[in-house]
Amino acid sequence: MTHSLSLHDITKDYGQGPVLSGISLDIQPGETVAVMGPSGSGKSTLLHCMSGVLTPTDGAVFFGETNIAQLSDAARSRLRLQHFGFVFQDGQLLPELTNVDNVALPAMLTGSSRGAARKRAQALLDQLGLGGLAMRRPGDVSGGQAQRVAIARALAAEPSIVFADEPTGALDQSTGHEVIQMLTTIVRQSGASLVMVTHDPKVADWMERRVEIRDGLVHDDRLVGGVRTGAPAAAQGGAR
Ligand SMILES: Nc1ncnc2c1ncn2[C@@H]1O[C@H](COP(=O)(O)OP(=O)(O)OP(=O)(O)O)[C@@H](O)[C@H]1O
Ligand SMILES: [Mg+2]
Repeated sequence: MTHSLSLHDITKDYGQGPVLSGISLDIQPGETVAVMGPSGSGKSTLLHCMSGVLTPTDGAVFFGETNIAQLSDAARSRLRLQHFGFVFQDGQLLPELTNVDNVALPAMLTGSSRGAARKRAQALLDQLGLGGLAMRRPGDVSGGQAQRVAIARALAAEPSIVFADEPTGALDQSTGHEVIQMLTTIVRQSGASLVMVTHDPKVADWMERRVEIRDGLVHDDRLVGGVRTGAPAAAQGGAR
């Protein structure tokens, strides 16, 4: 499914003054976007409003023809499950499930059979180099491996858009870069769009577009080309 995501003059106020003060953005199908800006500038709030996790105070968020800000909670949850994937910093995997079942879960929740969901989950884990860890639990693998499981899970239901909020913030830099390269490569192969909050300029260089948020407004929005990933992090290190 290839829908664009359009934000029209989004505002968000948690009750202590505006955090987002009027943001309009279009995310095209297949586009990779880095969202940057100082701490507290509203990046996570923006990502949550874009992805239907939070309802904006004002403004509209269109996914295709659907204004997701106006859907009921149940309808919005369904849309999220079907069309959006999420990778957060941590805490997103269920500790009591095996890795393969964690990855299979979103697809099962959208109606896939357990067998089909597990088959795709295993293929994704293989693609991320984790085939041998499928039957372990998330607590029994390294932080970088757990984030790769989380990436597989985000992609399992074949989303149109993957949202990532500092997905490697808890990892050391080189592990983080490796994980981000896998994420961007696999998202590009799938044709999904990627919207990623990051503080890391190098990570932002791997995206095609950079949106900078300051004080709840879009301060800068530019196409930066985007370095195609796929080579190991070390091989690209000298080139940038
Ligand atoms: N649930 C909430 N209730 C009240 N205020 C909030 C809530 N969540 C965020 N805020 C406030 O909104 C502002 C923007 O927060 P947000 O988390 O979006 O920033 P951020 O750009 O993601 O920062 P960081 O880089 O530190 O993650 C901050 O001033 C924060 O304190
Ligand atoms: Mg944040």
